[in-house]
Amino acid sequence: MEVIKRIGLLTSGGDAPGMNAAIRAVTRTAIHRKIEVIGIRRGYQGMIEGDFTRLRSGDVSGIIQLGGTILQTARSMDFMQKKGRQQAYEQLKKFGIDAVIVIGGDGSFTGAGIMSKEFNMPFIGIPGTIDNDLYGTDYTIGYDTALNTVIYAVDKIRDTASSHNRIFFVEVMGKEAGFLALMSGIACGAEGILIPEVKHQFSKLKKYLAQRAREKKSSIILVAEGDDEGRAIEIAARFHKEFPEFDIRTTILGHIQRGGPPSVVDRVNASRMGVAAVEALLEDQKCAMVGLVNNNIIHVPLNKTVKLHKDVNKELLDIIEMLN
Ligand code: F6P
Repeated sequence: MEVIKRIGLLTSGGDAPGMNAAIRAVTRTAIHRKIEVIGIRRGYQGMIEGDFTRLRSGDVSGIIQLGGTILQTARSMDFMQKKGRQQAYEQLKKFGIDAVIVIGGDGSFTGAGIMSKEFNMPFIGIPGTIDNDLYGTDYTIGYDTALNTVIYAVDKIRDTASSHNRIFFVEVMGKEAGFLALMSGIACGAEGILIPEVKHQFSKLKKYLAQRAREKKSSIILVAEGDDEGRAIEIAARFHKEFPEFDIRTTILGHIQRGGPPSVVDRVNASRMGVAAVEALLEDQKCAMVGLVNNNIIHVPLNKTVKLHKDVNKELLDIIEMLN
């Protein structure tokens, strides 16, 4: 078993509320375990460029409540090339870094898995994305805060929708997954959801909405941005073409979903995962993600987290339908 003296820590891909709580937990756990922490700024791009900064305990004070990431983040094209990864490895060696902890989503873990294999460098992943679309964990950092942001916004939209008897198509994030739309749909009592995991939902929804609108009832439909039927604005336009008599509006929540102070759930889970990531390295894990399954910390091989697909919970889909 190799002795780890210095680790690199980065956030990568889309930011998510709670990433700072994880940075704090990794830093303080490592220091407690007599390991130095080097913060890598701007994700893998910063790794390639050697944009490193020593993190001491005081550097992570007062950040647990902050959204975003103090290390900043990026989606690096250079890191996708072998040349970029070679440069990144040389920077890690120059700074005496023995292992890396990366907080991010599937793109970040794909890169971590490749680099770990190419250079025999231990990499531990902490799942951080508001999309919650990573295999091997029930939960990803930022998901809970994003859900709360969505329902806060949709509750307000509901007030105006019902005052005017309008149909609202509300687009939420989720390029390839409908977890945000599904869970927030239940929480705000949406009349329908459109998500990439469920095909051919639009015609069914059209019938239902037409009936409701005739009865002068307002409706909220949550649309995941990656839905097969198109973006919310296109779906609303199609609907309007067929039913010009109904009053339809569209709202795109956008990047508001990625910001703001993390919820209690995100702060606590990010702290747990940050501690677990350092412990995983000390237990000689070489290429794994720490995840939460049934509220227990687990380790999942990094390649599994990116190769396997996480399914939406069928029971939750049934609930949406049943309650309408
Ligand atoms: O963080 C994931 C995600 O929020 C996706 O749901 C969304 O499509 C994407 O990021 C947008 O990211 P950006 O605007 O940073 O490219």
